[in-house]
Amino acid sequence: MQKYNFAVVGASGLVGRTFLKVMEEYDLPVGKLRLFASEKSEGKTMTFKGQEYPLEVLKKGCFLDTDYALFSAGGSVSKEWGPVAEQEGALVVDNSSTWRMDESCALVVPEINIDDIKSKRRLVANPNCSTIQSVLALKPLEDAFKITRINYSTYQAVSGSGKKGLNDWEGAEKGQPTGFYPYDISRTCIPEIDVFFDDGYSKEEKKMIEETRKILHRPDLRISATCIRVPVPVAHGVMMEVEFEKPVTVEGARRVLAAYPGIKVLDDPKNHIYPVSTIAAGNDYVYVGRIRKDTSVDNGLLIYCVADNVRKGAAANAVQIVKKLIEEHEELIAYNEKKEG
Ligand SMILES: NC(=O)c1ccc[n+]([C@@H]2O[C@H](COP(=O)([O-])OP(=O)(O)OC[C@H]3O[C@@H](n4cnc5c(N)ncnc54)[C@H](OP(=O)(O)O)[C@@H]3O)[C@@H](O)[C@H]2O)c1
Repeated sequence: MQKYNFAVVGASGLVGRTFLKVMEEYDLPVGKLRLFASEKSEGKTMTFKGQEYPLEVLKKGCFLDTDYALFSAGGSVSKEWGPVAEQEGALVVDNSSTWRMDESCALVVPEINIDDIKSKRRLVANPNCSTIQSVLALKPLEDAFKITRINYSTYQAVSGSGKKGLNDWEGAEKGQPTGFYPYDISRTCIPEIDVFFDDGYSKEEKKMIEETRKILHRPDLRISATCIRVPVPVAHGVMMEVEFEKPVTVEGARRVLAAYPGIKVLDDPKNHIYPVSTIAAGNDYVYVGRIRKDTSVDNGLLIYCVADNVRKGAAANAVQIVKKLIEEHEELIAYNEKKEG
């Protein structure tokens, strides 16, 4: 198989480190690899497949030899350097929120809408972590029963805030003074993620609403969301109240969910079997359970899903996008070779 050159921007961060881990686990055909971080990390090294790589600072021309550039260095870096990488010839997969709602960029969960990339530019957006796990659990239900309304309530782990969030939680657990979150995250849930708008919604809540519509190709779908930070290191939980156009049963929902790629149904609550963060952490599945009729509406379900926010919610989703694109490219090469000869 052909090798491809990779760049990882934000390689020393929580998501960046996980990119490298997942790229190794998925055995991507990596040729040259360049790692980028901020000036403060210049000179440090990181390991990939047993080999040391220096952490570099971004410069014009640094993507000229790159096939795939994975970005996770925050919005301002993606805004400035994403288009540079694209112009220099790389296919960019960006983890920040900068390009997600841009009409010219595809917003992709590979199990659902990888083909959206074909009609868009070579700067692909990775959705918000809570959105990825939610839409993956919703897509088979949308296909089978057509959704008419969603209400999300999230229980989001501190690693969703990057290294600063994890450090704050770890410090608070040891009784040290905290500063990143507005309250002691070791002792309370905090119903504030990202900035608030005048209508009372937070930016995280708006992201979930808008990104769900874009990925499911349902621009007018009625959606609401409440996002809450909880004292859990890794793996977000999302409770979903979902209403449907067609009649739905719990058994029917379980069946279509169990058959969908990337989903594992854990749903035997009397035997304590349901999704929990400690099961999801370190894995790339979206775990779904507590599926039951919503008795307060005519045709609705209540569903709980949990996934590792740093893996499926960020790094693994991006690597899966690249893996699929490489597989498609390899198939095309094989097809052309067969045709020619
Ligand atoms: N954590 C999650 O669950 C999650 C999920 C989905 C999306 N995301 C998104 O992914 C991005 C990174 O998140 P994270 O959680 O990995 O954050 P993080 O742990 O704080 O890491 C940030 C990374 O960006 C690098 N960086 C900062 N300024 C830079 C610059 N000017 N040039 C190059 N690199 C620079 C940092 O390098 P230094 O080490 O040198 O400072 C570090 O490698 C954010 O946009 C975030 O919204 C995160």
